[in-house]
Amino acid sequence: MTFSIKNICCIGAGYVGGPTMAVIANKCPHLNIEVVDLNEERIKNWNNNDLSKLPIYEPGLSEIIKKCRDKNLFFSNAIQEKIENADMVFISVNTPTKTKGFGAGKASDLKWVEACARQVANYSKGHTIVVEKSTLPVRTAEVIKSILLENNKINKDDSTKRTFDVLSNPEFLSEGTAIKDLNEPDRVLIGGENEEAMEALSIIYKHWVPENKILKTNIWSSELAKLTSNAFLAQRISSINSISAICEATGADIREVTRAIGSDTRIGSKFLDSGPGFGGSCFKKDILNLVYLSSFFGLEEVASFWESVVELNNWHQHRISKLIVNKLFGTVRGKKIFILGFAFKANTNDTRESAAINICKDLLEEGAILYIHDPKVEPNQITKDIKLQQSLQSNESDNTNYLSESSWYYTQDFNEGAEGADAIVVLTEWEEYRLLDWSKISKKLRKPAWIFDSRSIIPTEVIKSLELNVWRIGDGLN
Ligand code: NAD
Ligand code: UGA
Repeated sequence: MTFSIKNICCIGAGYVGGPTMAVIANKCPHLNIEVVDLNEERIKNWNNNDLSKLPIYEPGLSEIIKKCRDKNLFFSNAIQEKIENADMVFISVNTPTKTKGFGAGKASDLKWVEACARQVANYSKGHTIVVEKSTLPVRTAEVIKSILLENNKINKDDSTKRTFDVLSNPEFLSEGTAIKDLNEPDRVLIGGENEEAMEALSIIYKHWVPENKILKTNIWSSELAKLTSNAFLAQRISSINSISAICEATGADIREVTRAIGSDTRIGSKFLDSGPGFGGSCFKKDILNLVYLSSFFGLEEVASFWESVVELNNWHQHRISKLIVNKLFGTVRGKKIFILGFAFKANTNDTRESAAINICKDLLEEGAILYIHDPKVEPNQITKDIKLQQSLQSNESDNTNYLSESSWYYTQDFNEGAEGADAIVVLTEWEEYRLLDWSKISKKLRKPAWIFDSRSIIPTEVIKSLELNVWRIGDGLN
């Protein structure tokens, strides 16, 4: 049996659902794609005529939305109706770490995925191919299948009996380069049991992805490969960040070490930039999921191996905060510090698990007055992340104003942020920070002043020539 796919419904209009469906709509104008979400505000923003108000910032996304929206790409809250009409349903909802109960702090909370399976079980008609796009623990497809099949048993007298196939099709896009990653993926992974259903999904991707990049596996391998990919990538970052600490202690330079090891083709040069520690919604969650899974199967050594990747990352972030305090004569109480970048990486407005959260919280805990700049992150998001209301804007930069210690201000103005500051801390590698006029900024700082560069993007020689102190990640000559 071959399945003809015309109508697609994607449940979840988030960082994955929105861009992924936009690219499919763009590459496959013959398909009708409906993206649905419970969140009315999010859908309203996806439908906003002002494309700068889309809920997600990704280079190249707004152009595709402009081209496809209301032609073959639609955003709505009409979950039931769109599932009813769909031949294929993508589940692209959030799968955060559980905060309570069994496995809290490690296992994924599958309540949203389960809710989707129930929605599909209730509303679908005829044959539906259900595609797991969310990142899920191994064997989740079994849970989805049993919910779908159970529902069919209840409706066994129903003449319009429904049938299902469940596929795993994890997403490998990175935020900030999502459109490029979707347009030119290294591979597309399709896990399943029914070859025809797998082929139906493969046909969609073949509209722009070369056939040799479409990998078909069994469903459990596909689910595990996604968790493993993220675990390997995160492991590289913890590895290089651990070496950056050794560099600082010994006089070596992490950039030179990275170049030397990355030239070995077996190691490769990508994903070896030492920074403030990995952030993003997935690395920590997916590794902890792997840790939980390993413990569940009694593989304690495997669990602790992977857990150490997350532990190193936490340690590394706090190491940077401590180092800032130490360099500023052991105290930042009442001192103004200008933070450059709050997003977890450049070219995204996403702050989930951003290293900036821990580092800013540590500095506030120590009594610092932070001025925070980010080109894309909104101040209300920062408030939510650091759990402290922004202070009322004041133009004074009085470093002796101890009453305003542990407060923070949002600024879009480099002059305001630098005025009277004791230090500047670069936490996100935004392009505009590479281009700053340091001689101008230097004049605004209170001396002796420090520049802390956790992303290796600031011209250290220029900074030194301005008689500013500079600390750069993994630089043993700091
Ligand atoms: P997100 O939080 O941005 O979006 C999820 C959306 O699903 C939300 O808008 C939420 O309202 C909606 N939703 C939840 N339950 C629903 C339901 N029952 N019906 C309708 N809508 C519902 O999440 P995301 O970042 O897009 O991640 C989604 C999944 O993709 C996760 O499993 C994540 O691990 C995985 N993933 C994320 C990325 C990434 O870069 N963010 C990359 C690859 C994979
Ligand atoms: C990551 C993976 O790269 C994607 O393949 C995957 O689909 C996604 O997670 C997911 O499952 O959510 P993402 O989190 O968007 O993508 O961003 P990355 O580029 O991987 O960066 C993650 C973190 O590592 C960022 O904080 C980044 O600054 C940091 N990083 C990355 C480094 O510190 N050094 C590097 O060399 C690379």
